[in-house]
Amino acid sequence: MHDPMESALTRLRAGELVAIPTETVYGLAADASNAEAVKKIFLAKNRPSNHPLIVHIPHPCKEGMTASEKNAAWAELLSKWARDVPEEALILAGKFWPGPLTLILHKAKNVLPEVTGNQETVGLRCPNHPVALDLLEKFEGGLAAPSANRFGHISPTTAAHVRHEFSDMDLMVLDGGPCTVGIESTIVDLTRLSTQGPVILRPGMISRQEMEAALNLSVSDIRSNAAPRVSGSLSAHYAPRTAMAFFSGLASFPERARKVAWVHFPGTPLPPALHSREVTEVVLPISPEDLARNLYALLRDLDGRHFDLIFLDDLPSETRWDAVRDRLVRAVNGSGTGVGQSR
Ligand code: TXA
Ligand code: MG
Repeated sequence: MHDPMESALTRLRAGELVAIPTETVYGLAADASNAEAVKKIFLAKNRPSNHPLIVHIPHPCKEGMTASEKNAAWAELLSKWARDVPEEALILAGKFWPGPLTLILHKAKNVLPEVTGNQETVGLRCPNHPVALDLLEKFEGGLAAPSANRFGHISPTTAAHVRHEFSDMDLMVLDGGPCTVGIESTIVDLTRLSTQGPVILRPGMISRQEMEAALNLSVSDIRSNAAPRVSGSLSAHYAPRTAMAFFSGLASFPERARKVAWVHFPGTPLPPALHSREVTEVVLPISPEDLARNLYALLRDLDGRHFDLIFLDDLPSETRWDAVRDRLVRAVNGSGTGVGQSR
């Protein structure tokens, strides 16, 4: 029997793709310093080549290091990928890495244009998953990895999801069990600090408030600014084939929707419009962390069950639900068109 870790390393060093577990979602990884390997990611995903990839980096800190030694270790590692690394990046790395946070920085000269989608910036993340951290430490380089799904489809949070997604390919999947966070990392852009401060490009389970507290700075959100720059910010994304709607999003209930998945929080009374339908109930967990962990598995499962409509309770308006709400709004926007399966 081959050791999966050794096989993964051999494949990555040979310029092959390997699907890897992270705490957020599974990634489709390639050696970030090998342009031919990186191109395979775009081919496999059917992803436009101008969409930049996140480079996953190892954890450089050893047990027993002092705070200033840790800071120096992050600074040294980040300088391999980024130039003019600001103090804010070191603070966020020290506080949230390994973890579900991606930093956008000015790229170092050697970073391949294939990785950055020809932009002058690079996305970096140290993932908090024991298998990924072990792999990255042994690989001794960066792994470019987008979520391991076809472009526009739902991100995978188990090895089985990845195998299903790429069943037509001979892809090695390093199985690290179900992802514990379940939705993609928060992305924060630190390349316009002097004019706009830190800007969140994609919300995730590390919140604006947590970053503000760590930095003692106000952090803004791209959604209140200009045009989207990241695929995760296209309005329709993570899209199931089945039509989905929020309770408050329907002026009237569609007559044709007979077979309905009613996805709601505990205690919500059955909406009168559903009295005469064939209803399958799904009760949601009441914490955003629990919902995030199971969200994509739930969407995949519901999408496979041929409902006419997936009817969702509105989410609480508190900011701690922002990241989950963001994914569900996109799923609703892209749903019912076949977009999720065909892109
Ligand atoms: O949690 C995650 O971030 C997962 C795991 C695998 O790490 N990865 C992930 O990758 O979600 P992906 O490619 O599906 O989404 C990454 C997003 C994309 O929307 C991409 O456009 C954006 O990050 N991104 C990467 N580099 C960027 C850059 N230099 N500037 C702006 N956006 C960038
Ligand atoms: Mg993705």
